[in-house]
Amino acid sequence: MSKKYVIANFKMNKTDEEVVSYIEKFKEKVKDFNTEIILSVPFVSIKTASLMVKNSNILIAGQNLNENDFGAFTGEINAEMLCSVGASAVLVGHSERRNHFKETDVIINKKIMKGLRSGLISVLCVGETLFDKKNNLTTQVLQRQITECLNSIYANELSHIVIAYEPVWAIGTGVVATKEEIEGAIKTIRMLLTNLYDEKIASKVKVVYGGSINEKNVKEIKSIKGIDGVLVGGASLDEEKFYKIVSEFNEKGTSEKGTKKVSKKKTIEK
Ligand code: 13P
Repeated sequence: MSKKYVIANFKMNKTDEEVVSYIEKFKEKVKDFNTEIILSVPFVSIKTASLMVKNSNILIAGQNLNENDFGAFTGEINAEMLCSVGASAVLVGHSERRNHFKETDVIINKKIMKGLRSGLISVLCVGETLFDKKNNLTTQVLQRQITECLNSIYANELSHIVIAYEPVWAIGTGVVATKEEIEGAIKTIRMLLTNLYDEKIASKVKVVYGGSINEKNVKEIKSIKGIDGVLVGGASLDEEKFYKIVSEFNEKGTSEKGTKKVSKKKTIEK
């Protein structure tokens, strides 16, 4: 049984002090879990959080990165900076970034490349809007997002990518996609990956679901065929609720090792 990913996205919530208090309590509760736990905290708390989870089963992620190497981009953070403060992963292409900050698939693709080649696991968020859903455009939207965001990403880099299916209409609305919708989207994502790479590679890519997950509905979501975990926003802000969600995915007795960082200067071949 492969390890499940349970990823928290704090978004623009929690001061540094609040992050510290959260991790202090949470870390202890999950210390024996073999779930892959990732906390996406605000930039300013990455260093503190990373130091706190050192030698534990928790990884710290940034919520974004800039697609450029360095330079005159006031207010931005690059991949190297994230690594330098201890981040192991980064969220890329979240719908809030696509919507509020006009991030395109081309920009997201550049961000993934920068992240991967600095050794960060990229959590690529994809998903349709309500308009897309109402107009039966889900497959088309997923096809565009997956194809463009993974452009020039080599097969051997996919082990460091987690794809999060997050339908925009389910984010923060309390409306969870149905089991059938999630299963269908995961199937579509794997079919698209098969077309881009091959079936064996596609079957190994981690695909998680995000959108109004909470401690009550997680059991049902977990039972979905092909699901590798969840990405949680609102319910992750409460460490007790998030602990309950993680507990649901904790596979007792799993010995498989988690995703390792890509070594920085690795030569990547197709
Ligand atoms: P909610 O869990 O609050 O719906 O947010 C989901 C999300 O955007 C995670 O990235």
